[in-house]
Amino acid sequence: MSEQDVVSYRVENRIAWVSFNRPEKRNCMSPTLNRRMMEVLDALEYSDDVGVLVLTGEGSAWSAGMDLKEYFRETEAKGLGAVRQSQREAYGWWRRLRWYQKPTIAMVNGWCFGGGYGPLFACDLAIAADEAEFGLSEINWGILPGGGATKVVVDLLSMRDAMYHALTGERIDGKTAAAWKLVNESVPRARLEERVTELANVLLGKNPVAIKAAKDAVRRVKEMTYDNAEDYLVRAQEAANFHDKTDGRKEGIRQFIDEKSYKPGLASYDLSRAASAPGHD
Ligand code: COA
Repeated sequence: MSEQDVVSYRVENRIAWVSFNRPEKRNCMSPTLNRRMMEVLDALEYSDDVGVLVLTGEGSAWSAGMDLKEYFRETEAKGLGAVRQSQREAYGWWRRLRWYQKPTIAMVNGWCFGGGYGPLFACDLAIAADEAEFGLSEINWGILPGGGATKVVVDLLSMRDAMYHALTGERIDGKTAAAWKLVNESVPRARLEERVTELANVLLGKNPVAIKAAKDAVRRVKEMTYDNAEDYLVRAQEAANFHDKTDGRKEGIRQFIDEKSYKPGLASYDLSRAASAPGHD
């Protein structure tokens, strides 16, 4: 398999379907895969053809976490410099994904272990198959859940669930992952793509500048005091106004107040008419 093949992707109807593509290795993340994933994310991020990115896995796994052979053993054999480089490459693409320009959805089709929690958390939304299985398996092979995984469960789960998950290494299925809020929801495997497509289309129907501002705001304010958050949100909205060349918020108000063509409590304004709409200043 060539280096390019470890990540596959296609773009259809403004949805970029990006897949971990080492099914024979349960999509575990090698340094090669991490480097390739960064290239793919880079190529898609500002493409006009892409409005939403979905991250999924080929075969039975979403991702079986870090590659114990290539990421850990072989890299450690090369020394500390190589270890740090591998960490930078893995953490680098997860960070890139956390602050991605487009909204992102993790479509968790199967196994999701350990290091896989990094990209899982990096995606804005996550939909799992009921049949998917999640686990912090690190404890089973003698390490703590590193690479951000401990932070992910503490941020997303209750302390009791996070501690249980980290200390026992027991697996949970998609339904429990949804109940624990590790993912937004779970659906039968047979309905997974359909549900993710439906969700992606909801996101595609929103103002993209507002989506980027909102997703960053949700992550940023978590670490802020109320006053800092209040101020950040004012500045972020003012910056979004500057970046939104369609002046979407004025158009959104116009279609509701003047045209009465939709109700913001019930649906989105019609983006397709924003740029050329009368009343646009
Ligand atoms: N690192 C390195 N190799 C891995 C791997 C990983 N994280 N996960 C799977 N593989 C490899 C296996 O070694 C095997 O290689 P081989 O065909 O050369 O023998 C191949 O992928 C298939 O794995 P296998 O264990 O036979 O598949 P399975 O479907 O029976 O089991 C898992 C799937 C995910 C339960 C199992 O592979 C597993 O426990 N993987 C490790 C999970 C883990 O602890 N990840 C955390 C890392 S931070």
